[in-house]
Amino acid sequence: MRIDVLTLFPEMFDAPLSYSILKRAQEQDIVKIVLSNIRDFATDSYRKVDDKPYGGGPGMVMMPGPVFDCVEHVQAQTEEPGHVILLTPQGKPLTQHKVVELSQRPRLILIAGRYEGFDERIRTGLNAEAISIGDYVLSGGELAAMVLIDAVVRLMPGALGDEDSPADDSFSDGLLEYPQYTRPEVFRDMKVPDILLSGDHGKIAQWRKEQSIQRTKQWRPDVYETYLQSQPAQDKKKI
Ligand code: ADE
Repeated sequence: MRIDVLTLFPEMFDAPLSYSILKRAQEQDIVKIVLSNIRDFATDSYRKVDDKPYGGGPGMVMMPGPVFDCVEHVQAQTEEPGHVILLTPQGKPLTQHKVVELSQRPRLILIAGRYEGFDERIRTGLNAEAISIGDYVLSGGELAAMVLIDAVVRLMPGALGDEDSPADDSFSDGLLEYPQYTRPEVFRDMKVPDILLSGDHGKIAQWRKEQSIQRTKQWRPDVYETYLQSQPAQDKKKI
């Protein structure tokens, strides 16, 4: 997969892309991440990329010209035009379901904005999908782009080590993950549940499933409701 990131602050991506899974995935050519500076596509001598909103109001808006030119420049580098994504708090929420869908695409082009927002023609004219990472407002789309990249790349075949499986992740089966324990067996009077030391894999799997269900019900009733809807009728009665 190739991921292009269009931003005014490419240096912000240096650290997150230089460690752990994202670093290894790039070294192993599982993903190629290409950063472009939108300001390089400004056309005036001040390198201006934003302007006042038509109709008045506070703040500045990202101009369409430099963003379109930057997208077209990166698109011309390969045959695959890529799926264009705008990171914005107005977008559709990024869920694990969406992450799985994005991880199967050959190329993503992420546009991280600053200021009050994008000129609407960037979304419509580039046929971009608007995505939000949550109901809060960041000072720019860069951190949101990094979150999306991290969540997508770790799902790509070969990105995680052999022992780690994305199948056990929270949300992958519609539930939060069960509680985990490691050594020591007793820590400050808190003991690891006996069942996990029993060696009975069937019972352990059943306990984990129950824990997942209980924790989802308690902590994320919204996720639990969706899980319930997805269960066959006879299973719903048991929960
Ligand atoms: N830009 C600013 N806030 C954002 C958010 N919550 N998600 C995605 N992009 C953003």
